[in-house]
Amino acid sequence: MAGSLGVVLVGCGGIARSHAFALSKVPNAKLIASVDIDEAAAKRFKDRFGFETCSTDLDATLARADVDAVVITTSSKSHGPLIMKALEAGKHVLVQKPMTASVEESRAAVKLSRKKNRKLMVSFFELFLPPVERARQIIEQGLIGEPFFFKAIMAWHTPDVTAGWPFNPELAGGGVILDGNVHHVSNALYLLGDPKVQSVYAEYGALTADIKVEDTAVILVRTDKAILEISGSNRLQEPGGATVAFKDQWQVFGTKGTIAWDAAARPTFRVFTSDKDALDPLLSNGWVSPKLPVMPPDHREFSMHINGEESPWVPEHQHFVDACLNDTPVRSDGEFGLKTQLILDAAYKSGREGRKLPLEEAGV
Ligand SMILES: NC(=O)c1ccc[n+]([C@@H]2O[C@H](COP(=O)([O-])OP(=O)(O)OC[C@H]3O[C@@H](n4cnc5c(N)ncnc54)[C@H](O)[C@@H]3O)[C@@H](O)[C@H]2O)c1
Repeated sequence: MAGSLGVVLVGCGGIARSHAFALSKVPNAKLIASVDIDEAAAKRFKDRFGFETCSTDLDATLARADVDAVVITTSSKSHGPLIMKALEAGKHVLVQKPMTASVEESRAAVKLSRKKNRKLMVSFFELFLPPVERARQIIEQGLIGEPFFFKAIMAWHTPDVTAGWPFNPELAGGGVILDGNVHHVSNALYLLGDPKVQSVYAEYGALTADIKVEDTAVILVRTDKAILEISGSNRLQEPGGATVAFKDQWQVFGTKGTIAWDAAARPTFRVFTSDKDALDPLLSNGWVSPKLPVMPPDHREFSMHINGEESPWVPEHQHFVDACLNDTPVRSDGEFGLKTQLILDAAYKSGREGRKLPLEEAGV
């Protein structure tokens, strides 16, 4: 299908800037409306990113025939109800992670997206990092042998835990597991080619302050391919303060080599293979940093803690818009989001009950 996709953005806060900016760079996206319960926020987005209009009335906006898709960037616990509302109105959906705050909501969303025959994609922006795509190819080509261990950390600094929805369970639905660890659960599933989960174990808690959601978490997932160790904290103390101290790293260890990515390192992406036949012999004696596609300078804004050259936001939104217009599959669809949610819910249950959950109980 040719033409353009009429898009509404719901939730005009921090991360929404990355989405709105990216949409403004996608030629076949039409920025119809910015919507927020806060009128001033919706207006700021209209003025800054060029939406045709702004509104606090989502129902009225969804009733418009020129709206084809909704990008949901609100606080996490509202994702589930907003996905359902957008799908009911017959619109495609791109929703920020976590997909929802519970497995039940994710299942309902998948079911409705099938019934309505609309795209449902979860925004795991790291899946559009050039190094993630390259790492997946390297694994598929067998260059690091059989992956047996995936290890990752995402951690940042939140100075004030008394303000903002992320520390309010009524609005967040959970803490750093839903907010940070979820990214690396998704990376692991994607990189390892959808491994079968066998068990889930987690330790987490509010360790640094008197708050009602976890600020620190470690999840261990046993799969048929590898063990995953996924950790996170939003209370990191490192140089740089709230905006700069952001740790985002993952490594895949295989029987013949290792892949490592670290958002703060330069280069960010390194590969080692002990398979001397696999690469040019000149390159196979140590770490190599494969050449990756580089984002044009005018596509790098709002790349968050990601090196602007690797910014995944425009490619992610181009992928979503093209998938809606041409009815092609999306990279992280509702089923994929549901699988991440099953692992997260199992992690919460494991931590609450203080035991490892075997496959049957983990439900994955
Ligand atoms: N991928 C990433 O790197 C990343 C980074 C930060 C946040 N996030 C996710 O994005 C989402 C938003 O986080 P944020 O930090 O931008 O939050 P934020 O508080 O900065 O912005 C949320 C906005 O949504 C609006 N809102 C809340 N409920 C609404 C509703 N029902 N209808 C319309 N508007 C509503 C709020 O008024 C606010 O303007 C969260 O789910 C979070 O987990 C992802």
